[in-house]
Amino acid sequence: MNMKITHLSIKIEEYNDIAELSEQDKTLLLKAWDACDSAYAPYSKFNVGAAVLLANGVVVTGNNQENAASPSGLCAERVAMYYASAQYPGIAMKAIAVAVKSEVVQLEEPASPCGSCRQVMAEYENLYQTKLRIILGSPHAKIQILDGISSLLPLTFYAEGLKK
Ligand code: THU
Repeated sequence: MNMKITHLSIKIEEYNDIAELSEQDKTLLLKAWDACDSAYAPYSKFNVGAAVLLANGVVVTGNNQENAASPSGLCAERVAMYYASAQYPGIAMKAIAVAVKSEVVQLEEPASPCGSCRQVMAEYENLYQTKLRIILGSPHAKIQILDGISSLLPLTFYAEGLKK
């Protein structure tokens, strides 16, 4: 029998308070937290903020933008990453922080990016050959840090010919 089983493992750093983070991670998470305030989320009332740190030191923020025709809305992570790519083409994305403020749900765990956002993270990580540090959570609740998109999206799909 030639069948083989492969087990993959991922590393998640967990913290209980933002005070335990490095200055760089802390600053990025606070920017994501602030960005929640300007989300346009009248339907879900689930305000998500994202902050992307670029290799040139610039931080670009975004938040979820909803729409009456719900599939037309977009998550905070993609708003921030697409804005970063549009404004700073050719500059690597080094880290992304994601936070949630919601008056309707109390989150026990950090919100984890949806599949589409993970796929977009993978695209830029591959493009820039720079691991994306992913910081999830809210300043005074549980925080998770992942070292690269392979921790969230193993066995990633890349376009033929563009995989570096
Ligand atoms: N949302 C995000 O912006 N990011 C996530 O990681 C999860 C979900 C948004 C989409 C929608 O506007 C709202 O949160 C509820 O799903």
